Amino acid sequence: MITKCCLAILAFISLSVSLIVHPAFADDLSQWKLPSVPVPKDNPQTQAKIALGHQLVFDVRLSKNNSISCAACHVPSAGGAGITARAFGHGGELGRWAPAWDNAAYYTSLFWDGRASSLEEQTGALPGHMGPITAPGEMGSKIEDVVEKLNSVPEYKKQFNKVFGTDATPEAIAKAIAAFERTLVAYNSPLQKYVRGDKKAISAAAKRGFKLFNGKAACVTCHTPPNFSDNMFHNIGIPQIGPLKEDAGRAAVTNDPADKGKFKTPALYNCASRAFFTHDGAFDSLEQIVEHYNKGGNPKDPNQDPLIFPLKLTDAEKKDLIAFLESLTDKKLNEIKSQKLP
Ligand code: HEC
Ligand code: HEC
Repeated sequence: MITKCCLAILAFISLSVSLIVHPAFADDLSQWKLPSVPVPKDNPQTQAKIALGHQLVFDVRLSKNNSISCAACHVPSAGGAGITARAFGHGGELGRWAPAWDNAAYYTSLFWDGRASSLEEQTGALPGHMGPITAPGEMGSKIEDVVEKLNSVPEYKKQFNKVFGTDATPEAIAKAIAAFERTLVAYNSPLQKYVRGDKKAISAAAKRGFKLFNGKAACVTCHTPPNFSDNMFHNIGIPQIGPLKEDAGRAAVTNDPADKGKFKTPALYNCASRAFFTHDGAFDSLEQIVEHYNKGGNPKDPNQDPLIFPLKLTDAEKKDLIAFLESLTDKKLNEIKSQKLP
């Protein structure tokens, strides 16, 4: 009882704070400017490294049967995310939808449950870390085999030596891929032009939607500036669908039952281009997402975040909110194509 009561009070306080404070997010536009992405000291960005990473993410040779590339699951034209509700890898259908890699460089942890702490680690190339390249259900490779395959291609061998001063190694593969991912930033979205001072970059409807996002609809409580993610984990009452009966979410990492069904707040740039949404691909349109929030998520879920509550949005307000989300699309990211592979 005590905890329930405390939670209710906390929710009330944060809600009151959010309603008072959040309109400021729309007024002070500077905090929405996307800064340069954080780059680890031991993996500085260089053009040649980025170009190599660009090749690798489109190269099926990273997978066991030379059949699947990173970009097969993270489809650029679909906002860098999956085009099936759950991703399909070497092990068939996975339990989760492939989230966007656009703007992932700003996250402080990776995966829906935050189990990886850097883009390098996330790839699964580094010893001791499971990720797409080495996960049996995804690309299913042994990293030694990938290293051998890449070094048997003279042009790749030359490129790795130019960039890293060595043949391909697990570490060099992880670094090149991460360097490429750090270029996937929505600097050219209408919203970014708007916050940089171009008043006409977004429509009147999007401006109204921006106010709602920061005010009545209280989206900004979790989708915070500048990347629309607080880098935290919340249970927002998304229905569990697909092959998994249950997805523990963040609780699988922390072993804390209170984290059951919590997932990382996704960044929203290019979300209007996505074919699906949320950890299990439960929704396939922004209208459905907005409706989910509008009705207060799933109040029957005992673990649902108290920050989710009925919004009482009018139909016109829902449209404005969607117009705002559409202003987050950087078309250039959707147009990224495969480089010529050696
Ligand atoms: C078979 C489909 C598939 C392939 C291939 C694949 N991914 Fe993913 N990717 C996923 C899924 C599914 C998730 C979410 C998994 C989870 O959270 O447990 C994910 C998560 C990610 C994330 C984390 C994003 C976030 O919001 O935290 C990044 C970054 C990423 N993948 C990059 C890559 C890279 C780089 C490659 C190639 C080396 C790759 N992926 C290959 C399906 C795939
Ligand atoms: C309590 C925190 C919280 C609030 C408030 C919130 N969100 Fe979310 N949002 C999340 C989390 C967490 C997810 C992922 C949930 C999952 O996968 O189960 C998400 C997912 C989404 C997605 C899907 C993105 C993707 O790539 O899958 C969209 C779009 C979205 N939210 C928009 C909004 C809008 C619009 C509002 C306001 C009406 C809002 N959110 C309010 C935390 C929140």
